[in-house]
Amino acid sequence: TPLTALQVMQDSPMIPVIVLNDVAHAVPLARAFLAGGIRMLEVTLRTPQALACIEAIAREVPEAVVGAGTVRSKADAKAAANAGARFAVSPGYTGAVGQACRDASLPLLPGVASSSDIMMATEDGFTELKFFPAVQAGGVGMLKAWSGPFFDVKFCPTGGVTLQNAPNFLALSNVVCVGGSWLVPANVQELGDWGRVTRLAMEIQILRK
Ligand code: 3PG
Repeated sequence: TPLTALQVMQDSPMIPVIVLNDVAHAVPLARAFLAGGIRMLEVTLRTPQALACIEAIAREVPEAVVGAGTVRSKADAKAAANAGARFAVSPGYTGAVGQACRDASLPLLPGVASSSDIMMATEDGFTELKFFPAVQAGGVGMLKAWSGPFFDVKFCPTGGVTLQNAPNFLALSNVVCVGGSWLVPANVQELGDWGRVTRLAMEIQILRK
């Protein structure tokens, strides 16, 4: 059975945003996250290898739950589902992306940065949203302001979130989890330093609500 967007958000206090340039890195990286207690993994469709990486993780690391990030079009949504992605994350929202994810049974966390974005997404039935780019677009203050009119919407702030500022976001009642790229620092993949990813993943467990 397909996951719900809320289940995707509730699994861990932080969803890692992953950029993979080499298919050979996909499986060891996914295993490093699992060893650190994180199984919900967002592999962004930003590199030519991304879909093959999603496929490799889905096939070889079944305990992980791999999703596709940077889903920007109907074609992205279809390709992600075909590669074995179990959820989708988009930087913004369009009705076409929302419908394509529905058609593919992919739970979607649509990206929003304004009240109008939220209204478009909720109009189409999406109530679990990614706030992107969170720090740049207003951060904690913006989420507090949205909690009034959008009292029934839950957010995953992503963009500029760090281990240090994550607690400020997670303290808000309309925030379920955060997202970020800091668990995969530059060089980790080149060096094959998977142990570092596991250690960084373990650190985020202190963020559990
Ligand atoms: C992204 O989509 O690039 C994410 O929002 C990651 O942002 P960060 O690198 O600031 O964590």
